[in-house]
Amino acid sequence: METSDVAVIGSGAMGAGIAQVAATAGHRVSLVDSIPEAAEDAVDRLASNLERLVTTGRLAADEADAVRGRLRPAGSVHDLPECGLVIEAVPEDLALKRKVFGDLGASQPTTTLLATNTSSIDISAIAEAVIQPERVLGLHFFNPPPVMALVEVVHGLRTSGAVLDAAFDLMRAWGKTPVRCASTPGFIVNRVARPFYGEAQRMAESGVADPATIDWILREKGGFPMGPFELTDFIGQDVNLAVGTSVWEQTEHDERYAPTEFQRRLVASGKLGRKSGEGVYPYAADGVPVGRDPDLGLAEQLVGGPIETDPLARTVAMLVNEAVDLVARGDASAEDVDVAMVLGTRYPKGPIAWGREIGFDMVAGQIAELDRAFPGGRYRPSPALTDGSVS
Ligand SMILES: NC(=O)c1ccc[n+]([C@@H]2O[C@H](COP(=O)([O-])OP(=O)(O)OC[C@H]3O[C@@H](n4cnc5c(N)ncnc54)[C@H](O)[C@@H]3O)[C@@H](O)[C@H]2O)c1
Repeated sequence: METSDVAVIGSGAMGAGIAQVAATAGHRVSLVDSIPEAAEDAVDRLASNLERLVTTGRLAADEADAVRGRLRPAGSVHDLPECGLVIEAVPEDLALKRKVFGDLGASQPTTTLLATNTSSIDISAIAEAVIQPERVLGLHFFNPPPVMALVEVVHGLRTSGAVLDAAFDLMRAWGKTPVRCASTPGFIVNRVARPFYGEAQRMAESGVADPATIDWILREKGGFPMGPFELTDFIGQDVNLAVGTSVWEQTEHDERYAPTEFQRRLVASGKLGRKSGEGVYPYAADGVPVGRDPDLGLAEQLVGGPIETDPLARTVAMLVNEAVDLVARGDASAEDVDVAMVLGTRYPKGPIAWGREIGFDMVAGQIAELDRAFPGGRYRPSPALTDGSVS
């Protein structure tokens, strides 16, 4: 980077966290928000976070002071110093992001890297607002940025290789684990994870098993840190539905990502998960789910049985299929897909490694069997499972 100054636009949950990461890595960081007090409040909030790290012995007091000293609120995009990197983290709205990028393109030197933290918008569509689109890329941090190591470094159609390399190296220098990805709907993590939710919802809906039993199987037999229903209750059913719907819409309504009636009903009835007191499960006042009792006899019967009614094998086969397809399209490398899924979702294994273990031929057979049981295009084995292009 030409200069080491960094700016973050949008001081909400993600922007403030990214600012903390950049300041901790030694950069002077300007934080901008459309609500002026919001940037000031964010800097105060970050100061308290740093203070907490000091009192719990995780950060030296002089280091916390130094990090705090590098953070400053700025009035607007036009008040920023010349920066080496600007990261935008305003709400997920293309017109809003384009306006921010247009302003940044006009006010920052042509050498400044311009990054967006978007979760779902096409990088190329945002880059159109800038005269030099080759310097626009995605830096997709995970929540909370100071804790989550993964950053998806996302390239649009016109992003230059030099910009990507510089951003990739910088993320490494910030102590993150960057992976490279094309600007494909959902990038790596939000794309490959879709079947983890969708298969469980379909199985519950068709009466294969109740959510508590499916959650138990994925957690206890599969090694996933949370089952799909408890996880979507935790994320928010509305948030999870919005991500899934966005991927579905951006893939021209590909059946593989079609939202389920199960989840739509939950959201329509206000059962959003923990935050609303009820989602798939009702929650007690202390946030503990109520009535989450698995049917262990049924679980033992389902696991290892026919693929249509085996929640674990069916989910894993679809995760492998999705991951292999992403790699075969050239959107990311097999290694990066596995790193991203393990760090971004805490899956017990990367889906490509899992596929190798099961055997890609075997997975192709499982998906073909699901396709015979449920025709309509959702269960399409990726050609790459059998043509040797991913091994
Ligand atoms: N929350 C997550 O888990 C998460 C994870 C990864 C990526 N993201 C993405 O990060 C971005 C921000 O998400 P968030 O959760 O931090 O949102 P947020 O609503 O918490 O924060 C957005 C901030 O941007 C400010 N803002 C609005 N318009 C602005 C403008 N024109 N200029 C400057 N500031 C403006 C708002 O006042 C607000 O403080 C979104 O694109 C989102 O998709 C979110």
